[in-house]
Amino acid sequence: MEAIAVITSGGDSPGMNAAARAVVRTALYEGVRVFGVRNGYKGLINDDIDELSSQSVADLIQRGGTFLGTARSEKFRTPEGRQTAYNNIRARNIEGLVIIGGDGSLRGGASFSKEYNIPIVGLPGTIDNDVWGTDYTIGADTAANTILEAINKLRDTASAHRRIIAVEVMGRKSGWLAMTTGIAGGAEYVLVPEVKFDLDEMCHELRESYDRGKRYSIIVVAEGACDAIGLGTVVEEKTGIDTRVSVLGHIQRGGSPTVEDRIKASMLGEKAALALLSGQTNKVFGFDSGKPVAIDLFDAVNNKKTLDPELVRLARVLA
Ligand code: F6P
Repeated sequence: MEAIAVITSGGDSPGMNAAARAVVRTALYEGVRVFGVRNGYKGLINDDIDELSSQSVADLIQRGGTFLGTARSEKFRTPEGRQTAYNNIRARNIEGLVIIGGDGSLRGGASFSKEYNIPIVGLPGTIDNDVWGTDYTIGADTAANTILEAINKLRDTASAHRRIIAVEVMGRKSGWLAMTTGIAGGAEYVLVPEVKFDLDEMCHELRESYDRGKRYSIIVVAEGACDAIGLGTVVEEKTGIDTRVSVLGHIQRGGSPTVEDRIKASMLGEKAALALLSGQTNKVFGFDSGKPVAIDLFDAVNNKKTLDPELVRLARVLA
């Protein structure tokens, strides 16, 4: 193999840089040229592709975001868009692609691989931790720590005012971020899309606990569970307790990656590059119970990850 390319796609996540850096340095170490595709699949279509050196990925491991840029490309969803992308890849003699992104980006890679038989290896890069077959996705740990810091701060002010605070966190249709940070942050309630909740019962319990002298309560709301602003209004009406809503937004996506994200992203980046160089294709590298695993790309995109029922149970017991 003469050359491979690396691309980051979809929502950025802290650790994508560490993963891309590992892909680049591993390929160069093995004597293979590496290209970086700018701005996700858009860059493949627009031929926005640069050759990278070891120096191109210096001073990156500690940075959030992605130095390659990222995007969600509508054009790549069309056969014409993918044809243009393929022509650009062939013109540069690129013989394999590492795609770092969430389930939508990996799905794009799977379609591309099916149509053009181009070797593809995916790495799960998303704060949502919603890729099937892997316990871990690049950036989820950093995002969870960012959320936790916010919850800690919100507890101070909620306690000072005897308020309820509902914190809305990202995760799209997945409740992983909400559930893990809810447990780690000692939330009274965690609302996730995967589990039905009874609003009346929750409000009744909240009122009772305040009547017993409780100073404050935190409700962590996954963005996919319900509209947190609307929820706050209803909770205040039903409980008669001063309630505030904090929507954390994109602050959850940024920041310097944690040790876990730097190490695991680096390990996965090396594995992805070596897999391509050894002729493997249609794989996604992730972790299962702490150990690196290779998942079939089509299995990863055709299956839906579920929320660990053990976490759901624990959140209830400890609330
Ligand atoms: O998939 C990552 C994610 O941050 C989701 O948690 C969130 O719903 C979405 O991306 C936000 O996307 P955008 O940056 O396009 O608003």
